[in-house]
Amino acid sequence: MNDSQGKKKSLLKYYQENEINPVFIRIEDDGVWEDHVKKRKNLYTNHLKVPLTFFKKRTVLEFGCNSGENALYLASLGASLTLVEPNIQVMPRLKNLFGKFGLETRIEHLENKGISEFVTENSYDMVVAEGFLHTLPNRDEMLTKICGLLSPGGIGVVSFDDRYGSLVEILRALILQRVCRLRNIEKLNSEACIETARELFLEDFKRLNASRTFEAWCLDNLVNLHTSWESFWTYQEVVPVIENCGCQFYSSSPVWSDVDNYSWYKSVLSIKDRHLRMIEDWKKKFLFFLTGFSLTDRHVPPATQSVVNSVSELIKNMSEFCSSSNGDINTIQYPAELEDYLKDISYPEVRDFNNCLKSLFTILKSDDQKYIIDNYHSLDGIRNVWGSALNYICFSREM
Ligand SMILES: C[S@@+](CC[C@H](N)C(=O)[O-])C[C@H]1O[C@@H](n2cnc3c(N)ncnc32)[C@H](O)[C@@H]1O
Repeated sequence: MNDSQGKKKSLLKYYQENEINPVFIRIEDDGVWEDHVKKRKNLYTNHLKVPLTFFKKRTVLEFGCNSGENALYLASLGASLTLVEPNIQVMPRLKNLFGKFGLETRIEHLENKGISEFVTENSYDMVVAEGFLHTLPNRDEMLTKICGLLSPGGIGVVSFDDRYGSLVEILRALILQRVCRLRNIEKLNSEACIETARELFLEDFKRLNASRTFEAWCLDNLVNLHTSWESFWTYQEVVPVIENCGCQFYSSSPVWSDVDNYSWYKSVLSIKDRHLRMIEDWKKKFLFFLTGFSLTDRHVPPATQSVVNSVSELIKNMSEFCSSSNGDINTIQYPAELEDYLKDISYPEVRDFNNCLKSLFTILKSDDQKYIIDNYHSLDGIRNVWGSALNYICFSREM
């Protein structure tokens, strides 16, 4: 997303100018809180392996808490919170929510500022940054800051949009933008654009167990920075930063690393070797990142570096098309390396996905928006695939 001078706008500016609450979850409504609790409990206990008893009387610093729906859950478990959020527009809802749930005394500090401006002498048992760190130009520096704010043995939790896991999401952004351009819809955060997105994706979105509304997803993911190449992050980039700060990988969501599986506890690896093994192992999980398919390693070959690079290049080209108004769709080709890699995997859903991807890149070259929509709707092999875009990495600071 660019401003009128062609410069990339910050996530914060985008939310403020468009008055978007990107993760609006109506937790005060009947049943919504219970549902929210189930998901957050599953995230912490089953995926990130942090027991809920960890939070009792512990200090948690959360950057970018938005209107506080996630922080509220940690408060309900007994955590003392320091909340740092630069968007003043969400503050009334945050205060109101904590008041409604009778948890306002759990907020030790509430600061209306960004992560770069936050200064403290304290250290924390947990530091959380969900949904924005990857979009910052100084994200490595800010991740280093987070590591430095952890007490010895403390836990950092960061979520980011994984580059490879975002393939199908950016593909959806590309389809939407192509159709909007053919319909002469210039403003992407307009009702006309959202209506086009509904036509294309609403039916599929309804089958997901998403917490937020279709409109919030559309504005935050399809129209927003998600379409910008620089804002994607990868485990390969994040892990060395935490390692340099004396932290080590603890867990992730989705759970994908089996670095510690099938090994004896007496076979202790250095942090460096453990991380190296984990990153090597990542190539075996490449298909999972692209598609979200949970197929066993035994029948899925690891991706070679040239396959990984070809996907990276494809995502870069699609992002560039989406972020400039005069991109040429004919320059975006389905990479032969990816096609060959997927062709060798003998599962029907993978074959279907491969065939649909190949067709889609041809369909998108048409100048007939109705033809694109109708044909896209026949591609179930992509419509039912969501990839693994949103990732959490959890890391611990050495004692
Ligand atoms: C996608 S929302 C995620 C909100 C919440 N953490 C969640 O996961 O539900 C991103 C949040 O990060 C905030 N944010 C953006 N830039 C930030 C910065 N530089 N420092 C701290 N927070 C920031 C935004 O205002 C917004 O509240």
